[in-house]
Amino acid sequence: MASPRKTVLITGAAGYIGSHIALCCLLSGKYSVVTIDNFHNSFPTALERVTKIAQDALPAGASDEDKKALEIKCYRGDISIKSEIDQIFKDYEGKGGIWGVIHVAALKAVGESGEIPIKYYENNITATINLLDVMDKYKVYNLVYSSSATVYGAPPQCPIPESSPLQPESCYGRTKFMSELIIKDVCDSAPDKWRAISLRYFNPAGAHPSGQIGEDPRGRPGNLLPLLAQMAVGKFPEGLKIFGNDYDTPDGTCVRDYIHIMDLAEGHVLALAALPRDEIYAAQGQAAGFGSSGGKYKAYNLGKGKGMSVLNMVDAMQKASGFKYKTEIVGRRTGDVPELTADPALAEKELEFKAKRDLEAMCRDQWNWQSNNPKGYENQA
Ligand SMILES: NC(=O)c1ccc[n+]([C@@H]2O[C@H](COP(=O)([O-])OP(=O)(O)OC[C@H]3O[C@@H](n4cnc5c(N)ncnc54)[C@H](O)[C@@H]3O)[C@@H](O)[C@H]2O)c1
Repeated sequence: MASPRKTVLITGAAGYIGSHIALCCLLSGKYSVVTIDNFHNSFPTALERVTKIAQDALPAGASDEDKKALEIKCYRGDISIKSEIDQIFKDYEGKGGIWGVIHVAALKAVGESGEIPIKYYENNITATINLLDVMDKYKVYNLVYSSSATVYGAPPQCPIPESSPLQPESCYGRTKFMSELIIKDVCDSAPDKWRAISLRYFNPAGAHPSGQIGEDPRGRPGNLLPLLAQMAVGKFPEGLKIFGNDYDTPDGTCVRDYIHIMDLAEGHVLALAALPRDEIYAAQGQAAGFGSSGGKYKAYNLGKGKGMSVLNMVDAMQKASGFKYKTEIVGRRTGDVPELTADPALAEKELEFKAKRDLEAMCRDQWNWQSNNPKGYENQA
């Protein structure tokens, strides 16, 4: 029997978040996956492992066709070059076409974005425009976009609702904000065609419980949990610098909303399912922080709605890994705000999204990935 799966193009599926999204799409039984990745910050091995995890989850006696449907077709290419995206849509025209796109690929380092802004605008904005243009050419009008809580900057209220003002403070944050704006304008231009959902991620962390896929950043991790995990396998022996312990938070260190990567990835499958539902767009109003719009565009926070301090995270990773962390309190870092947590109510109501996994599972899975792959994907194919 022919596979009833719809084809979804995931840009950047070899990366940390994209690989978990690809896995959840495959596990849902509803989608097959094609990706384009230039492996700027990832390894092809991740895609092979995603397929393996999905195939291992098939019931005994699954057919070769069922197994084949879980292979990820990968184009090694750069989405800032339009012809490289076009080729994919062209190839799929004769195979039932691409149903929708999850646009994940981007550069994401806040500090670096201020040093090489043109590269960030080219990679994150030009690429988004290219993608929209090619989608329009091939009449593919379903889009889920990887946005970030960084679009809120320093928000006036916490937990942060989607209607909070959008005032990103970094070049990276502006590329996410501008991409959202561009997508929204495109949706407004043709409400009878386009449907798009932006998902504003808070702090994704952890890994798939198999320990086969996880975050493998090149160089020093910019995020706290992978940094702690790498310290526990012997990297960065100088220990952790904690930037300020005199904030107005329960233990004085900064509080963030950490969400298990599998919860976050599952949110994308829910978003794909929600795209065709007209009612979610009806109450748009101020909900995306942009003011009212006539198009079918919606933004949702993906967070747990619960904050954890830096010290909470160190403590939890210490329990998971058994490693005794060396920490040092240093001065506050410019631009850090005491607390950033999501108000996830809208996603819970309209997408039926719920971040179920707790901090213990997040740290256990992070450690499982790191201890199984102390050098990440490299040399381990
Ligand atoms: N990780 C986080 O904490 C976080 C938080 C909020 C939002 N996001 C967003 O989520 C998305 C994924 O983040 P991630 O942590 O998985 O990053 P990642 O670097 O692990 O993954 C990004 C993937 O996109 C690829 N890529 C980048 N530019 C490309 C290009 N021009 N052409 C083709 N492929 C390209 C990379 O090689 C990589 O495989 C990004 O859009 C990021 O802005 C991430």
